Amino acid sequence: MNNQAWIDLIRDIPDFPTPGVVFKDITPLIGSPGGFAAVVHDLATKVPADIDVVVGMEARGFIFGAPVALSLGTGFVPVRKPGKLPGEVITTEYELEYGTNSLSVHRDAIPDGSRVLIVDDVLATGGTIAATARLIKELGATLVAVAVVLELDFLKGRQFLSEQGIEDVIALT
Ligand code: PRP
Repeated sequence: MNNQAWIDLIRDIPDFPTPGVVFKDITPLIGSPGGFAAVVHDLATKVPADIDVVVGMEARGFIFGAPVALSLGTGFVPVRKPGKLPGEVITTEYELEYGTNSLSVHRDAIPDGSRVLIVDDVLATGGTIAATARLIKELGATLVAVAVVLELDFLKGRQFLSEQGIEDVIALT
């Protein structure tokens, strides 16, 4: 599958999870062998070459981040929601529409000075990526780029990330 034909495999679900929201459902895409391979290929070929570690966020960031890491020949580091990681963690909070959430990573997950790529499915408000970037910085690593499958322009996440000093954001669509 080429020419981003996989885009047609992302389906819109109106009024999910709440009325008025159109949810971008990636399950048909990842359920398609050709589509899944094509989107991972497109992610892996658009990012900088000199990456040491791929970081993905629970849960949908795992789905795309892990195969991109394999494709780049790097390891994969999971950033997880509270209470999931067994070792010593560092944690940061981020704003949701109502309230806050937090993300954690193992303190020893990323060697100091590593060049890191963040991979996730969707860039919406940018809160999840910004929080992950803070964790990476706290570990003494360098965020080289962010790669997402989908960007929801109207939520202005790219602008928010730019305000946090995160400029290298690659969105496939
Ligand atoms: C979704 C999505 C991104 C994030 C984008 O994750 O997978 O990680 O929201 O939104 P933002 O740019 O406004 O932060 P969610 O927290 O819903 O978790 P999930 O992957 O477990 O569904």
